[in-house]
Amino acid sequence: MSQKMRIVVAGCGGISQAWFKAACGRSDVEIVGLVDLRRDAAEKRAADFNLPNAAIGTKMKEIVTETRPDVLFNCTIPEAHASVTLEALKCGCHVLCEKPLADTMANARKMVTAARRAGKVLAVMQNRRFDLNIRRARAFIESGVIGKVTTVQSNFFIGAHFGGFRDRMEHVLLLDMAIHTFDAARLITGADPVSVLCHEWNPEGSWYDHDASAVAIFEMTGGIVYTYQGSWCAEGHSTPWEAQWRVIGTKGTMLWNGAAVFSAQVATPNGTAFYDARDVPVPEYPACAQSGGHGGLICDFLDCLKTGRTPETVATDNIRSLAMVHGTIASAKQGRRIRIAFKED
Ligand SMILES: NC(=O)c1ccc[n+]([C@@H]2O[C@H](COP(=O)([O-])OP(=O)(O)OC[C@H]3O[C@@H](n4cnc5c(N)ncnc54)[C@H](O)[C@@H]3O)[C@@H](O)[C@H]2O)c1
Repeated sequence: MSQKMRIVVAGCGGISQAWFKAACGRSDVEIVGLVDLRRDAAEKRAADFNLPNAAIGTKMKEIVTETRPDVLFNCTIPEAHASVTLEALKCGCHVLCEKPLADTMANARKMVTAARRAGKVLAVMQNRRFDLNIRRARAFIESGVIGKVTTVQSNFFIGAHFGGFRDRMEHVLLLDMAIHTFDAARLITGADPVSVLCHEWNPEGSWYDHDASAVAIFEMTGGIVYTYQGSWCAEGHSTPWEAQWRVIGTKGTMLWNGAAVFSAQVATPNGTAFYDARDVPVPEYPACAQSGGHGGLICDFLDCLKTGRTPETVATDNIRSLAMVHGTIASAKQGRRIRIAFKED
């Protein structure tokens, strides 16, 4: 790898700003190309981030052939993640791809296999893992204070009037948002999905073309039952983007409001039917490389390329979170419980 890591960014829409901000703040990387089907979007980002020497174009293969990058940042829409990533891997790039890894499990498996065959790193922007609050939740659960986790609930309710591709997208909540919450459930519990039963619907008055609300019951490894409720079409009393959580263990319960508010209680027998519930502290998590959302994950990914360490959101692992998404979609479509599989091709 050349001294400065050479990066091409494909997809220069809304979220790409966070990627440029993180990459342009580092002295060891150079953005050598910007690609977007809308040339003006790529030109705008080049101007925003003062990149007068970067190549700009609408065809990724041309820009990648011209600039020979080490890394491709894939910030395109979900339907384009597979084609753009497969092309970049073929051209010898490591790829960091926006969530969700792919629009279908078949595409995700193709991407994982292609990365393995090319000997390149493929990881996913699961930025909420790099939030200190979720690290705090994970560390507390791992400490065992509330015992072995048995039951998890998360609630996500936001009225989101995005416009753009999401208004037209099928399974918009499950595919474009619930991937974050499902991945968070895996991180908090340390468990993987086994099966799911899901109901998906589009509430009356919805501004989405397709279903924007869902409830799902997952069976996870270790016998954990995880219940998800979510909507992108719920006005008033919004939850945080990180959702609100209740985690029940064999000794007690942790509540996390999705932001910085935590509380936990453990039970002590007192000779009655209802044990004493004692408050216990949920220790703060120290600031570290794992903090900072997009910026934290991008820095961690680039450091992994330098050191050979495997990124936490490597596609071979992240495909398990994606399998939860596609499991819910299959279950909602078929009206039955689905076993969740995530093996590569
Ligand atoms: N991690 C997060 O918190 C987060 C937040 C928002 C969006 N996202 C994800 O980021 C991705 C992009 O979302 P956005 O909000 O920036 O969308 P957007 O519509 O604002 O931008 C997407 C851009 O990709 C371009 N594009 C589409 N297909 C392309 C292709 N084949 N080659 C090159 N360019 C192509 C479009 O022209 C557009 O400019 C999605 O996968 C979305 O789910 C993640």
